Amino acid sequence: MLAERTSRISSSPTMKGLIAAERLRRAGADVVDLSAGEPDFPSPEHVKAAAHAAISADFTRYTPNAGTSELKQAIAARYAADYGVTYDESEVIVCAGGKQALVNAALAVFGPGDEVITHTPGWPTIVEQIKLAEATPVIVRTSPADGFAITAGPIIDAMTPRTRAIVINSPANPTGALVSEAEMARLADEAAARGLWVILDLCYEKLIYDPVPYNLPRVLGERMRDRTILTGSASKAYAMTGWRCGWMLASREVVAAANALQSHSTSNVCSVTQKAAVAALTGPQQCVTEMLDTYRTRRDLIWARLTSDPRLVCRKPAGAFYLFVDVSALLSPDGLRTSADFCQALLEDRHVVLTAGEAFDAPGFFRLSYAASTDRLEEAARRIHAFIADLDAGRYASRSA
Ligand SMILES: Cc1ncc(COP(=O)(O)O)c(C=O)c1O
Repeated sequence: MLAERTSRISSSPTMKGLIAAERLRRAGADVVDLSAGEPDFPSPEHVKAAAHAAISADFTRYTPNAGTSELKQAIAARYAADYGVTYDESEVIVCAGGKQALVNAALAVFGPGDEVITHTPGWPTIVEQIKLAEATPVIVRTSPADGFAITAGPIIDAMTPRTRAIVINSPANPTGALVSEAEMARLADEAAARGLWVILDLCYEKLIYDPVPYNLPRVLGERMRDRTILTGSASKAYAMTGWRCGWMLASREVVAAANALQSHSTSNVCSVTQKAAVAALTGPQQCVTEMLDTYRTRRDLIWARLTSDPRLVCRKPAGAFYLFVDVSALLSPDGLRTSADFCQALLEDRHVVLTAGEAFDAPGFFRLSYAASTDRLEEAARRIHAFIADLDAGRYASRSA
């Protein structure tokens, strides 16, 4: 018999597709995999060099649980430079990815009886972490009509006397949508008045395509600094997903609680990774801009290619590296019935891997990651259009994939 909490949590719904893709690859198929939620770039050279140097210098022992002073200061300095917000070393903890920073936050501030509001379509981990902390997720649905913009009104409407916190992810996975500064200000004023926590997942903070003024940490810091928890990560900004380095910036009290939780689970982030992260945060930021420019070119290319069929409906996303495409016009009760069917048939017949919207609580959509070369994106677009031509020709009539 397993513990009751395991029955509350769902495992990743994207697994089925990944297993099928792996089976096809092993059978020798040329699979175009656009399901990955990670940069396809190698980690920057100066980051790798810092890690090599750390190993050579035998920097391979335990570090303080919350991370080295050097790295905590580098994180605080990065946020001071980027947003003008001031965090002391004691207000920073280094975690194994943004994911651990978020679960630390959830376990530190949510509990039984609490309601925690978040937005969907969204990254499924946020909801699962709320449940893991024995709180109740309250889901606010954003709409494709306005590009899934995350706005204050519906979140404020969802607040009740039991609301404890709001978790916002901006830029958002899978939609690429942002919360505007004005909407965040409205939300923060309301949250401050009610004594709620706001947890802001900034995992994609370096992936915003238009040069709009965008400073959510300052907006929150001015209104409710003590009740703000910022989480970030080296994963997407510096192409460092495998290194497992993220962080939380919050009040001393929250960081101390996260530190206690982490000290009895994973302890410190890998010492070598911490040196690499210092190099990433304090070194030249040119690599970040270059990757952003490349993602922008790819976004524009794949967006134009796909939306040349008006039944693939998608606004050009403002951030992150995903298209979130409404495919419902191609679904029918006597053909491919769901977006999961669509993705499964596309995988089996054309060997393109996408993530069905069902994984993000959004049936009728698929997520396409454009963290892939333009050649692979062109190839994917060709195959998707060929697949749709087959669909139009009735190939999938009365078949559920
Ligand atoms: C919205 C969002 N937040 C946080 C993360 C955490 O990433 P990591 O743990 O690699 O920092 C991810 C990863 O995909 C994500 O999509």
